Amino acid sequence: MSSSEVAELQRRIAELESLLLQAQKLTTVGELASSITHEFNNVLTTVINYARLGLRNSDQASRDKAFEKILAAGQRASRITTGLLSYARRGTTRREATDLAVLTRDVLVLVEKELEQARVRLELKLPEQPVCSEINAGQLQQVLLNLVVNARQAMPQGGTLTLVLAAEPKRGVLMLQVQDTGTGIAPEHLSKLFQPFFTTKRAEGNGQGGNGLGLSMCREVVEAHRGRIVCQSELGKGTRFTIELPLADPHAAQVAISPATAVLQKRARGSVQRAG
Ligand SMILES: Nc1ncnc2c1ncn2[C@@H]1O[C@H](COP(=O)(O)OP(=O)(O)O)[C@@H](O)[C@H]1O
Ligand SMILES: [Mg+2]
Repeated sequence: MSSSEVAELQRRIAELESLLLQAQKLTTVGELASSITHEFNNVLTTVINYARLGLRNSDQASRDKAFEKILAAGQRASRITTGLLSYARRGTTRREATDLAVLTRDVLVLVEKELEQARVRLELKLPEQPVCSEINAGQLQQVLLNLVVNARQAMPQGGTLTLVLAAEPKRGVLMLQVQDTGTGIAPEHLSKLFQPFFTTKRAEGNGQGGNGLGLSMCREVVEAHRGRIVCQSELGKGTRFTIELPLADPHAAQVAISPATAVLQKRARGSVQRAG
């Protein structure tokens, strides 16, 4: 094969890989669609019921309470959509110092109802101080979502999902762990996990089939950020994925917020200015 043919094939492979990543992203959005619809129905029910309550009761206290509930429900809906938008945004390769605790919370807004329905208890171990890395927030959200969805799928009878975030300044890294009490992974599968198309899930059934691209995408994104991702697992006990990313300058940490939070803060400032 001539060198120009090799170059052409390499170009095609790179093109197909990026298409696959895009397809994987859409699959994850699809997996979220039903829980997000459900979430929005809950928000609307709250808004409608409290609007009725406010109309029926003319006293100040009832009306204040109704407005507070409606505001909270609206803000929750807004967090979901801004989280989703920053997640689905394409083509942006920009990296910013981002607090991974904020990013984790943004992802959880999208899945917490689904976890609750699957009887998965959530244990969050996020530090009070920001723990930042220079990241593309949309890509890292996708990584975290993939890991959380895998964990949920590994616990068909329910269980506990533990998310841990910690800074390790001495090594210059931050550590993000996603741990479940699910089925675990057979030792002979462990070495194949991150290969594209490796899956133990069937395509048919309850719409929980896999394409085997989630973890390969996770590794690609994490390594592009000069990080690493490893898996430890014990059959019948559970699985833990650990991501390490370079820790960002602590000064950058002061201003780092996720896209969703930035939008909300901007809106809040806007409304204060309008009110004042
Ligand atoms: N938390 C987990 N617990 C048990 N097995 C897992 C877990 N995460 C991933 N796996 C295994 O790794 C395989 C590949 O995962 P992934 O690349 O996300 O593809 P998919 O989820 O589409 O199968 C899964 O099919 C499953 O066998
Ligand atoms: Mg998966």
